[in-house]
Amino acid sequence: MLIHSASQLLTLSGGPQRGRALGTLGIIENGAVLIRDEKIVAVGKTADLRAAYPHEPGIDVTGNVILPGFVDPHTHVVWGGDRAGEFEKKLTGIPYLEILAAGGGIISTVRQTRTASIETLISQTRPRLLRMFAHGTTTAEAKTGYGLQTATELRLLKALLALDSEGPLELAFTFLGAHAIAPEFKDNPQGYTELVSETMLPILRQWWETHAPHQPPPFVDVFCETKAFDLAQSRQILQKARELGFPLKIHADEFDNLGGASLAVELGAASADHLVRTSDADIAALGKSDTVAVALPCTPFGLAERDYTPAAKILDADGILALATDCNPGTAWNESMQFALALACRYMKLTPAQAIAAATINSAHAIRRADKVGSLEPGKQADLLILSVGDYRQLGYRFGTNLVKQVVKKGRVYSVDVGYYRTA
Ligand code: NIG
Ligand code: FE
Repeated sequence: MLIHSASQLLTLSGGPQRGRALGTLGIIENGAVLIRDEKIVAVGKTADLRAAYPHEPGIDVTGNVILPGFVDPHTHVVWGGDRAGEFEKKLTGIPYLEILAAGGGIISTVRQTRTASIETLISQTRPRLLRMFAHGTTTAEAKTGYGLQTATELRLLKALLALDSEGPLELAFTFLGAHAIAPEFKDNPQGYTELVSETMLPILRQWWETHAPHQPPPFVDVFCETKAFDLAQSRQILQKARELGFPLKIHADEFDNLGGASLAVELGAASADHLVRTSDADIAALGKSDTVAVALPCTPFGLAERDYTPAAKILDADGILALATDCNPGTAWNESMQFALALACRYMKLTPAQAIAAATINSAHAIRRADKVGSLEPGKQADLLILSVGDYRQLGYRFGTNLVKQVVKKGRVYSVDVGYYRTA
C-alpha cells in the first residue's frame, strides 16, 4: 500500500532530539510512504515512490499531513469510578495534596477500583483507550496504581494486558504499586514501602513470567512527593526494582522538589515525569543523561495551577523532552495528545514542531520503544496519522477538536472523522 500526495510528510527520523535540536521534523513535501504488512518499507517523494512501485495500490491524501502516531508515555488509564464530586471541592480552593492526606484523591479512586471486577475495569477503560486512539495515540504507556494491594495491582495489570491484546491501541506497562501510601499503612509509610519492595516486586517478577512471557518486563514507577514516598523510600523501591531487572520511571517534583529527578538519573531510569518544581541542579543532571524528561501540561491545567514544566531550562541543559497526557481521574482526565500539545505551546512555549517531536520520537524513547515507533523510517511499525489539515502548524494552534482524519496502526487503516452526522 502506497499512501501518497501528502502536503507534508513528517518523518521525525534520526533518533531522540536532545536540547535545542528538538523540533527537527524531517519534512518531505508531496510525500509518500510505502507499507507492507505491518511495517514501513520506504518513505520519500510521491513522484519517486510511484515510479519505483507503479503497481502498488494507493491511497491519495492530497491536502493532508502525514506524521507518526503519537506515543503517550505517561497515563493512569485504568481505574474504577470517577471523582467529579472532588473536582467541585477543588474549585472551592482545597489543595490536591490536602484532599489526598484526608483519604480522598488517589485513595478515593483506590476504594472504587478495589471493589471493581476485572470485567468492569476493562469495560470502563476500553472507551478511554479508543478515544486516545481516535485522537491519534497509537502507543500508550499505562500504569497500575489504584490497587495499592498485591491482588488489585495484579488485576489492573491483567486488565491492561487484555486491553492491549484487543488493540488497536498498543500499550507499554508500568507497575505503580507505590502511587500512594495504602490506607492500611496510613500511619506506617515505611511499612508500605517494605511491602512494595520486599513482597510486591518479587511477586510481580514471577507473575509477569507466567502471564506475559512475550512482553518486555514492565516499568516500575514511584510517586516521589510530599505525602507520598520520600526520596529514601523512592530509592529503596527503585533500587530493588532494578535488582530484579525492571526498567524504571519516577513521578518527580509535581508539587515539591525532593530530588527525584537526580535519583532517576543515578539509577538509569527511562524517564522522570512532571518536573514542575525541579531544581537547576536536577535539570542539569537530566541534561547530561539519557533519562527522558516527560512534561505533563494537562496536569497543572487540570488543577488550575500556574506553573508548568520549565521547557526552556530543560532544552538549554540539553535534556530530552517528551510530552504525555497523564490521563487520570484526579488531575487530568484527558485522552488527547493534541490537547497536551496545545497546552505545551502556550504554557511551556514550545513551537508546534518542538511539541510534535516531544510527542512522537522523544516519547517513544521515554518508553524504550523507539526501535519500533515514534518516527516514519523503513523497518519501523506502520503507525501513522493522516490529518485533515495541510500544514503541521495547525497542531498546537488549534485545540478542543480532533484534527486526525485517519489512524494507521501496524498497516491497518482506521477512519475516525466520518459518521458523526449519520442517522441510523
Ligand atoms: O500523575 N501524581 C500522581 N498521580 C497522578 C494523579 C493521580 C490521581 O490523582 O488519581 C498524576 O498527576
Ligand atoms: Fe502520573
